[in-house]
Amino acid sequence: MLDQYGRKIEYMRISVTQKCNLKCIYCDPDGENCKGSEDDSLTPRELEKITRSMVNAGIRKIRITGGEPLLRRDICEIISRIAKIDGIEDICMTTNGIHLLKMAGDLKAAGLRRINISLDSLKPEKFKFITGGGDLKRTMDGIDRTLELGMTPVKINTVLIKGINDDEIDDLIELTRNRPIEVRFIELMPMGSFGADNRDKIIHNDDLIAARPGLQYQARTDKGSPAIYYQMDGYNGKIGFISPMSHQFCADCNRIRLTSDGKIRPCLGNNGEVNIRQALNLKPEDFNQIVSQIIRDKPRGHHFDKDFKSTRAMHMIGG
Ligand code: 5AD
Repeated sequence: MLDQYGRKIEYMRISVTQKCNLKCIYCDPDGENCKGSEDDSLTPRELEKITRSMVNAGIRKIRITGGEPLLRRDICEIISRIAKIDGIEDICMTTNGIHLLKMAGDLKAAGLRRINISLDSLKPEKFKFITGGGDLKRTMDGIDRTLELGMTPVKINTVLIKGINDDEIDDLIELTRNRPIEVRFIELMPMGSFGADNRDKIIHNDDLIAARPGLQYQARTDKGSPAIYYQMDGYNGKIGFISPMSHQFCADCNRIRLTSDGKIRPCLGNNGEVNIRQALNLKPEDFNQIVSQIIRDKPRGHHFDKDFKSTRAMHMIGG
């Protein structure tokens, strides 16, 4: 359905847990979510029910995120329940890849189509530093396994931070030479205190593109994607640029977010939320009406350019 600004909202990102097994410096440096805190995440049944209502209201695409979604033991049940809903055209996941090698086959069998993997460095020591102890090999093995299973294109998300991993831009681009991989550079957002306190460490994607004349612009095929794509001549994969800080793409935003504790957050850069879990016991008509109203009222755009501080870090929203 259309929101009040005429945007067609058809994509919902679902965070299935706040827990994570990494402590990325820009997300959860103190590892609050590694501590195995009380988990009040929505159950597979609740997730199915909310998604069904969302599909009634026009949602067609689902992304499963976290925290780290592969920490949920019932992740395959969640995927298969959602994948079976009539009207769902696409279901994918964003993960840090640590558990992917052993789980990718089951995820595919449950109905998952594609996987985005967060990868901020190709150097083991630096990967460990950025992620607060992560093992690069496990994520790389997960990427290889996903490619082996033909779940393509495999998308890699890299958050560039000046002075930390901007020396690896060309090495990351090289990943696309022979593989059907899309490497996407994401501008650091003020979600959580690292991003908010380090605005001088944002790498503006335009500068990065201007410095690499070999990058060739690719016409947009998916208006719903915030990434603008380029390709190195003769390479198999593509390079995407996601630039929330330098180019607001709110006018094309087609998404809403469901947090693991049952709140709908219609805009990443706006702290407004609606408790949908509380509404689950209502009659279906009333529930559906609340869902429609949330979509209609989605804010016009984010406030990253002002003094915005998110009430939730990314691991609590789902990216
Ligand atoms: N700025 C930009 N991207 C972020 N992500 C998490 N926190 C931030 C931030 N502050 C990215 C992760 C992941 C995706 C879901 O969001 O790296 O790939």
